[in-house]
Amino acid sequence: MPNRTPIVFGNWKMTQDRAGAVALAAGVHQATVGMAGVQVGVCPAFVHLDAVGAALKAVDSHVALGAQDAWTEPNGAFTGEVSLAMLKDLGVSWVLCGHSERRHVIGESDELVSKKALAVLNAGMNCILCCGETLAQREAGETDRVNERQVRAGLNGVTSEQMSRVVIAYEPVWAIGTGKNATPQDAQNAHVAIRGLIGQLYGAGVAAALRIQYGGSMKPENARDLINQPDVDGGLIGGAALKSDSFAGIVRAAVGSA
Ligand code: PGA
Repeated sequence: MPNRTPIVFGNWKMTQDRAGAVALAAGVHQATVGMAGVQVGVCPAFVHLDAVGAALKAVDSHVALGAQDAWTEPNGAFTGEVSLAMLKDLGVSWVLCGHSERRHVIGESDELVSKKALAVLNAGMNCILCCGETLAQREAGETDRVNERQVRAGLNGVTSEQMSRVVIAYEPVWAIGTGKNATPQDAQNAHVAIRGLIGQLYGAGVAAALRIQYGGSMKPENARDLINQPDVDGGLIGGAALKSDSFAGIVRAAVGSA
């Protein structure tokens, strides 16, 4: 099994004001600066990317800058949307695609998520493709089927070469922001199924190298047990990413888990 560098990203969602976002970024940098062997990033709201990017650049930070979404077209008449070129210009190197809030609250389809993922990769950037089942789907025993549908659709048109810039985040919808996390074994089972699908689509080498994050109420207290699962390669963190010390606690749990 290759050593997969664990990857922990904070998804700040629609929180913070400008000063708070800059302070949080500085805090995340400070609190994680010595933690080797884990890839760390933060995804502030669009309007804070410039200020957060500048703050991270000023300290030559190891913390990567990510966006929570992006539009598929390079420019033009898309009122309210933000292009990948605009994001790149601000130093953004990662983009979340298909977060469950965009799928279930905003109404993004598998098809739109797929277009976004491909646009991100074609722009030379890195994509965190999110998937996960709702509570009703879990109770109906459809977890693997939903993940398969979302991952298969989300990677439509993505080449093997591009897969080195893809991370998948398995985020059961019922666990996001609820305080209820999947058990380490449930997460492991879902990750194994996703990795198996990637093996079918791209072969064993790509599957073995792919990093799969868990997301959904991950916090310092449960991070170690989740990340220590063999197929859990880090986390996508919402609530616990909004305080630098709790986020750093999760990053610390990932140190040495490769
Ligand atoms: P949570 O959010 O950690 O607050 O559950 C995770 C996410 O939505 O990425």
